[in-house]
Amino acid sequence: MSLLALDTRASLRPPAPVPRPEPLGPIALFKVLRNNSLETWTRAHFEQPIVTGGLLIAEVAVVSDPAAIRRVLIENVGNYRKDSLQRRMLSAVLRDGLLIAEAEQWRMQRRTLAPLFAKRSVMSFASEMARAADALVSRWRGYGEDCTLDVAAEVTQVTLDVLERTIFSDGLGGDPEDVRTSMRTYFDTIGRIDPFDLLGLPDFVPRLSHRKVRPTLRFFDASVDSIIAARRRRLAEDPSSVPRDILTLLLEAQDPETGQGMSEAEVRANVITFIAAGHETTANAITWSIFLLSHSPEWSERVAAEAEREIGRPAEDLSGRLAQTRAVVEEAIRLYPPLVAISRAAIEPDELAGRPINRGSMVVIAPYVLHRHRLLWQQPDFFDPGRFLGSARGRIDRFAYIPFGAGPRGCIGSAFALQEATIVLASIIRDFRLELAPGHTVWPVHRVTLRPRGGLPMRVRSRA
Ligand code: HEM
Repeated sequence: MSLLALDTRASLRPPAPVPRPEPLGPIALFKVLRNNSLETWTRAHFEQPIVTGGLLIAEVAVVSDPAAIRRVLIENVGNYRKDSLQRRMLSAVLRDGLLIAEAEQWRMQRRTLAPLFAKRSVMSFASEMARAADALVSRWRGYGEDCTLDVAAEVTQVTLDVLERTIFSDGLGGDPEDVRTSMRTYFDTIGRIDPFDLLGLPDFVPRLSHRKVRPTLRFFDASVDSIIAARRRRLAEDPSSVPRDILTLLLEAQDPETGQGMSEAEVRANVITFIAAGHETTANAITWSIFLLSHSPEWSERVAAEAEREIGRPAEDLSGRLAQTRAVVEEAIRLYPPLVAISRAAIEPDELAGRPINRGSMVVIAPYVLHRHRLLWQQPDFFDPGRFLGSARGRIDRFAYIPFGAGPRGCIGSAFALQEATIVLASIIRDFRLELAPGHTVWPVHRVTLRPRGGLPMRVRSRA
């Protein structure tokens, strides 16, 4: 795999594997898939609307035709269910949460949870996001002039902090540091692909990667349960005394059609789902944005100037006023979509982009491929946030850019994530100049989410 040039003079072409001229054979494919699925894509994937082939377990169609994507995710959505590998990898912990639920349980939860992530509710979280960003900026200032930090790890801490502040705004209970530590272990563990999952062993077979950390996982589960129980008690005693955070909204949420609330198991599964689905994805969006800006003096200055002008004014509609910063985030998740691929299994035969799809076939919609597709984008491998500004934005096909998926199972947290990434990025760039640590090479790898291999060590200097 060779590295694409990182050309900072006129336009920036950030690092990415060069598509293979030919597909890999089955054994090599399995190996590369496990290491870094990005290195398996072939030229055909980036040039053709649909590429079909066989994997060891099923027929696979990789679809990059906007009309076909609309068909899978919206028009014929009932014919495509989340496939079993995806469900197995995530389901043990997140069972009963929105990401995994199916059929009536999913429909009821989605209706019930939609208001939590509606525009007004998300805007009400902006000041907590700004506070979390301020806490990071102060911490970095405390490290002194000119230090080297792993920006990927630092930013993951902010996204956990944002979730902690917006879900449990009155704290994590007795021993917050212990809960935080167990939470990090929890998401490091469930975020890894266990070889048993690839082999397809059922859930009751204990996963090796979980054994050592099982007590920590139990501690985190118990902590979440006791925070929920305490909040429920306070809500019953004196509803006016409790904060209007995501936990309260979850406990009060009612299905608009039936008036029913969520069970204890569903509340807990959704708290964990929001943290699982929301922290690493958003952290990657911010991390890649910082990396790209560090190679683009022009956009770095634009973001710094915008941040200087806008931060400090009322936080509620801050992200709306940070249009240039937001365009950088949107371009970063075009080039490096945190979720590389969305997969579904066809229940009945169908036809996509002129090709027959058999019952049981796996349909893959890969934002990573789609967002760099030769038929859909000009200079697809180059960094240009201008695509997302003004009238240029209107020219992007709705189904050519889907970092958050689309349709009824699209990301419920997209507005939350974009607002958070925009605020955090602006706060960092306003105060600091960042430069890749000398000798470090950045390379995108797919490990559940798309991240830079080995983190992102950067030299951080104060702008002042
Ligand atoms: C940049 C950050 C994020 C990205 C790129 C992202 C991406 C996605 C994508 C692509 C899907 C659809 C998956 C599919 O169709 O198979 C999804 C679903 C979901 N996301 Fe996000 N997400 C992000 C942040 C968040 C945040 C912050 C939250 C919550 C706080 C969240 C919660 C969820 C949930 C619950 C679902 C499942 C929705 C359903 O099935 O009804 N995500 N996300």
